[in-house]
Amino acid sequence: MALLPIITAPDPRLKQKSRPVGAVDAEMRQLLDDMLETMYAAPGIGLAAVQVGVPRRAIVVDISREDGPREPLFMINPEIVGVSDEDSSYEEGCLSLPDMFAEVERPASIRVRYLDRDGKRQELNADGILATCIQHEMDHLEGILFVDHISALKRNMILRKLLKAKRLQEEEAAG
Ligand code: NI
Repeated sequence: MALLPIITAPDPRLKQKSRPVGAVDAEMRQLLDDMLETMYAAPGIGLAAVQVGVPRRAIVVDISREDGPREPLFMINPEIVGVSDEDSSYEEGCLSLPDMFAEVERPASIRVRYLDRDGKRQELNADGILATCIQHEMDHLEGILFVDHISALKRNMILRKLLKAKRLQEEEAAG
């Protein structure tokens, strides 16, 4: 397994739409395992393949507590097949927008259909933080970031901060 570099905003690669996965083969499983390790190391609770520069429809999620057993979910070609009428709101963050957080409103529960790590068809009902996390990661597959759900004013504030942090890092690296 290997740690993969995570792309951070603003980067045009995060805006691209991911293509469906044809077959869950050894290469895809390797990517999923590397994504999971990268996510745990970050640390984060979700990661989409496009965030490590692979624009394919695959996400990994694990919302289990750090001190408990790990419960990773591998979702390939995920599709939302049902959503609740009621919404819920969580403060979201993203490994591609380091140290940035905002409240985002989404359907409180969802039903999602996907292929697992073995290429087997699965369906899952999710609510709470898991529902939010899966929807956040699936947004990445459409080139959508959580800041795209908030007001332009707040979004620009966050993006300006990120740009400033990136420039500072580059300046430091350049000495
Ligand atoms: Ni994200």
